[in-house]
Amino acid sequence: MTNNPTIQELSHEDRAFPPPADFAANANAKADEYDKAAADRLGYWAEQAQRITWDTPFDTVLDWSEKPFAKWFVGGKLNAAYNCVDRHVENGLGDRVAYYFEGESGDTRTITYSDLLREVSKAANALTELGVKTGDRVAIYMPMIPETVFAMLACARLGAPHTVIFGGFSASAIADRVKDCGVEFVITADGGYRKGKPSGLKSVVDEAMEDCPEVRNVLVVRRTGQDVAWNDDRDLWWHDVVDRQSETHTPEAFDSEHPLYIMYSSGTTGKPKGIMHTTGGYLVGTSFTHWAVFDIKPETDVYWTAADIGWVTGHSYIVYGPLANGATSVLYEGTPDTPHRGRWWEIVEKYKVSILYCAPTAIRSFMKWGRDIPAEFDLTSLRLLGSVGEPINPEAWMWYREHIGGDRCPVVDTWWQTENGSILISPLPGVTETKPGAAMRPLPGVVADVFDDEGNSVEPGNGGYLVIKEPWPSMLRTLWGDEERFKKTYWSQYPEVYFAGDGAKIDRDGDFWVLGRVDDVLNVSGHRMSTAEIESALVAHPKVAEAAVVGASDEMTGQAIEAFVILRESAEDGGDDVVAELRNHVRSAIGAIATPRSIMIVPDLPKTRSGKIMRRLLKDVAEKREVGDVTTLADSSVMDLIQKGVAES
Ligand code: WT7
Repeated sequence: MTNNPTIQELSHEDRAFPPPADFAANANAKADEYDKAAADRLGYWAEQAQRITWDTPFDTVLDWSEKPFAKWFVGGKLNAAYNCVDRHVENGLGDRVAYYFEGESGDTRTITYSDLLREVSKAANALTELGVKTGDRVAIYMPMIPETVFAMLACARLGAPHTVIFGGFSASAIADRVKDCGVEFVITADGGYRKGKPSGLKSVVDEAMEDCPEVRNVLVVRRTGQDVAWNDDRDLWWHDVVDRQSETHTPEAFDSEHPLYIMYSSGTTGKPKGIMHTTGGYLVGTSFTHWAVFDIKPETDVYWTAADIGWVTGHSYIVYGPLANGATSVLYEGTPDTPHRGRWWEIVEKYKVSILYCAPTAIRSFMKWGRDIPAEFDLTSLRLLGSVGEPINPEAWMWYREHIGGDRCPVVDTWWQTENGSILISPLPGVTETKPGAAMRPLPGVVADVFDDEGNSVEPGNGGYLVIKEPWPSMLRTLWGDEERFKKTYWSQYPEVYFAGDGAKIDRDGDFWVLGRVDDVLNVSGHRMSTAEIESALVAHPKVAEAAVVGASDEMTGQAIEAFVILRESAEDGGDDVVAELRNHVRSAIGAIATPRSIMIVPDLPKTRSGKIMRRLLKDVAEKREVGDVTTLADSSVMDLIQKGVAES
């Protein structure tokens, strides 16, 4: 099983699955969506924008005059939280469930749209009392609990962009983000439950705050009840401040281009990028795609994105998309194997989940655990399955369809990125004849292509670089505080075209296959890491002279981090202890997700004459292949030494 199928392997796929007739007949999006969008792209987006309630209507759909800085729905004003909450209550849907919350330890909460309105209003009043104003950035470092959603929507309500930091990140990763974003207010919890145990979150924030004197307040939700250190000048309990607030709050309408949130993601250099999304376009993109790709029927569906709110998938498809559409979602705090390996399927059975969206890495774990586990549960409520985060192997796609979807549910493999804000390439479940492993077609209104080095569209059957040729509403607007990097990263490879950083192929039928990153970005379990970020962390350790990191294909996680390290002379002969020490060091510098699978101590690294590390050769070693062409190396004996070391270890 390979996780980045080669172009050759992919061109041999001839299984195809048309949508079931009853699904197609009742589908939200029919084939004419493509025609409508092709006939008048901006008109199509203007029509999709009517899914949203505008306080002031927009006058211009797109202003692209200052390329690559797009403005969508110009002149329009709206409040994102009003769109996600208040308007549903005003429309008489207050009793509809917004979230079925399932804690890892089995505690549950049912939150209706009326409950959500009350909780978000109280939280917004609390933030106002604590001095949070429109435009202030608020960092959120939380477990997967309802208060995380309340906090995000309270920020959105006030026009205070949130920056949610995944709960697995380390103190120094928090500090970097807080400083880069100029955050003065942090929301966290004492901890959360993970793999049956309470994990600490407040303690990690405390450590980060040593480096962030500008943070005025840390608001702390009590989740686990564990003991936490307390700074009286800075820390406040959520229940002390929020519970006593008024249950009503009048939302203010903000400009369509008002920043909604910043989400940090890894790029090709050591420093994570602050990807900025704005209000109008983002809500239109998430609400449209949640309608078209997930075929949401808010009256009857129970929708579950099994991802973390700390990543963009959670922002768009646990929070903003489903809530904008008035849907009922499952919010699950924990891991798939706690307390047993059937936990997800138990949840599907319990809440009668009808639409499930998850990552290939999870599907591969379930495959490994065996089909007997899901077979013990009633999964007949499911009617649609989605995948996201990395290329899905055809075997995993087939397994998902058969053993989870009972051969009756369409599978949508959705391609998009943090930068994109919402799904861009995906089947439409009631229209597209799907192929295992293919993201298939750009959605209506999206103009994607595959380019060669010169910027020409490749011939069908060939591979190249995935690009988006026209702006789309939920696109990132810039990188926080770094317009140059924004231009350089996405808009400098080809003029006026968005460069995604992925390799892709268009097959003879015109369908898209996304093959994986073409830059120094790794994808570990659907989480994006950069080689440079991990290398910087390694080199910051006093025993390390130089480091090179590559992604090697891994059966479970898609890619795994493999590091090659040259020790300083003073630290040589450190043995296994050094390796363990360095692994821990990376874990505490970035977070557990960045821990290398293996660290190889090497005498030298393969470099070109100009000093560039040839990671391609190290990747060959890590993937146990014959090493490729070494003729451009400054010293071609280096690879012999490294391989000798590998053979001996
Ligand atoms: C990268 C973006 C946006 C959701 C989570 C990841 C890879 C994502 C697919 C897919 C092949 C995919 C790409 C992309 N990717 N979905 N369906 N097929 N590759 O967000 O961390 O911004 O990562 O994930 O390589 O560039 P992200």
